Amino acid sequence: MCGIVGCILKDNQAAPVLLDCVKRLEYRGYDSVGIATYSSSGIKIKKDKGKIDEVINQLHLDELSGEMGIGHVRWATHGLPTQENSHPHTDCDGKIAVVHNGIIENYKELRDKLEREGHHFTSQTDTEIIAHLIEKYHKQGLKLEEAMNQAISKLHGSYAFAVISAHEPGKIIGVRKESPLILGVGDDEYFLASDAPAILQHTRKIIYLADHETFIIGSDGITVKDANGKVLDKKIENIKWTPEMAQKGGYDHFMLKEIHEQPDAVKNTLFEVSEIEKVVSKFPEFKRVTFVACGTSYHASMVGKYLFEGLLGLPTDVILASEFEFAADALDPESLVIFISQSGETADTLKALRIANKKAETLAIVNVLGSTATREADHVIFTRAGPEIGVAATKTYISQLTSIYLLAACMGHDKELLDQLQQVPDWMEKTLSNEDEILTMAHKYKEAYDFFFIGRGFSYPTAMEGALKLKEITYIHGEGYAAGELKHGPLALIDDEVPVVAVVPPGKSHDKSLSNVEEVKARGARVIALGSSDDDVLKFEAHDMIEFSPKINELLSPLIYVVPLQLLSYHMSVARGIDPDKPKNLAKCVTVE
Ligand code: AGP
Repeated sequence: MCGIVGCILKDNQAAPVLLDCVKRLEYRGYDSVGIATYSSSGIKIKKDKGKIDEVINQLHLDELSGEMGIGHVRWATHGLPTQENSHPHTDCDGKIAVVHNGIIENYKELRDKLEREGHHFTSQTDTEIIAHLIEKYHKQGLKLEEAMNQAISKLHGSYAFAVISAHEPGKIIGVRKESPLILGVGDDEYFLASDAPAILQHTRKIIYLADHETFIIGSDGITVKDANGKVLDKKIENIKWTPEMAQKGGYDHFMLKEIHEQPDAVKNTLFEVSEIEKVVSKFPEFKRVTFVACGTSYHASMVGKYLFEGLLGLPTDVILASEFEFAADALDPESLVIFISQSGETADTLKALRIANKKAETLAIVNVLGSTATREADHVIFTRAGPEIGVAATKTYISQLTSIYLLAACMGHDKELLDQLQQVPDWMEKTLSNEDEILTMAHKYKEAYDFFFIGRGFSYPTAMEGALKLKEITYIHGEGYAAGELKHGPLALIDDEVPVVAVVPPGKSHDKSLSNVEEVKARGARVIALGSSDDDVLKFEAHDMIEFSPKINELLSPLIYVVPLQLLSYHMSVARGIDPDKPKNLAKCVTVE
């Protein structure tokens, strides 16, 4: 949800470096792109709406000179995606430039006041007020850093921003509050970014900022201060992610690469079992568990409910993070609240975490090291999916599921489940090897305008996730439904133009789901069934069948059955001429409520 970068280098190559960094953040927003560099001739800015490569080619952004600068990719919140609303934004004199990720909630009243004081605005964004506020305090005689601190004291909302100024060249200053921001320490070169993949090719030495911390990057180093202005001794951490992990590696899209990385993501997450045992050993006795998450992470949480209730006998709720503040009254200290998040920065999830922290024990299951959720929850488990760039979550979903299964196995001392999980990577490889069949299916169904995905029990979340993948990257309407609920309304929508994807693994729910397949067929639906290769009845009923090993029972099926659904959406997206890595209107990390 917007990405910001910045650098101070040894040579005057800041522009190409900034562009390389913002390109790696394109998954955070692709409405517009812009950079500002500083050289002896002052601050120069180039920016426009549109995808990064198009804008670079048209405006020759890389030709700006200077040793330092800031850059931005935008996911529009305030104001349309236009050239004027693209970042960086400046003050009245063009001497202060700002890039920002987040939302300034009180920007209207601040803007009205600044306009009355004579400031001239050129955009509709909330961000521009930051440049004008700093200008105002600077003109009152404050140094740049003090002016920024004064500006911060007036801002409500969430923000990570970076500022350069021709008044005090040679430094980049900024702050983090409720929006992600990291600093990078290179070889006499320094960086800032919303997310580590942006700067991995320059350094893996990272400083994680906490909320309200400000920074000053100069050519001789980085200073971080707390909200009271006290200089902090921040730890520099070496992250294990490599630059190659954040590249496409020969695949056409990040999403396809990430789908194929899933067996490794499971293996790497399985290695975390001893860390999970350590976390579990610190748990007090719980009477209740509540999972909280958004989107795909919510679907992983739904699987958690079936597991925790079925295996551990613990009453378990699943609540959408955006609904949590309206549903959290009954939490008590004997509750464990588990937050699932790839990014660890989703605004709704963080808000819910802060509420839960006051009332119960909290655990965050997160993929991004150093993210806010990992610093605020009582306990943390890391999924080991590696960086995920495609906007649609794939390997991180599988890693979340793996962590949840491991957690349930550790809490229930279930050695059998731990052993079964070891087979998941091989089953997944087998499924991935049948990609050609899915590609054929994708071409067959790509013109449909409406799909249903149905399943019961453990297969219900798989159906929901299959539908979400379809919606977000093919722009076809897909509805995930509990198979038994169809007859209570949506069956009215089923006809021969609405394909139904039925998730029917062997197990307790099998026979009832099979009846639902017959129901939709009786209304003319074309059925794509997912089931065991020895399920002859299902094969007979289905128009198309995606087969799995009979050994994958319904308990383990969420880990495998979702994979062909990811591939189906991916290939339909490509067949429809859409870029699956950058679906319209979406961003990887949703840092606004
Ligand atoms: C799914 O493909 C999406 N990227 C989205 O639903 C995502 O899962 C959701 O925004 C939650 O993000 P998080 O896991 O980073 O908190």
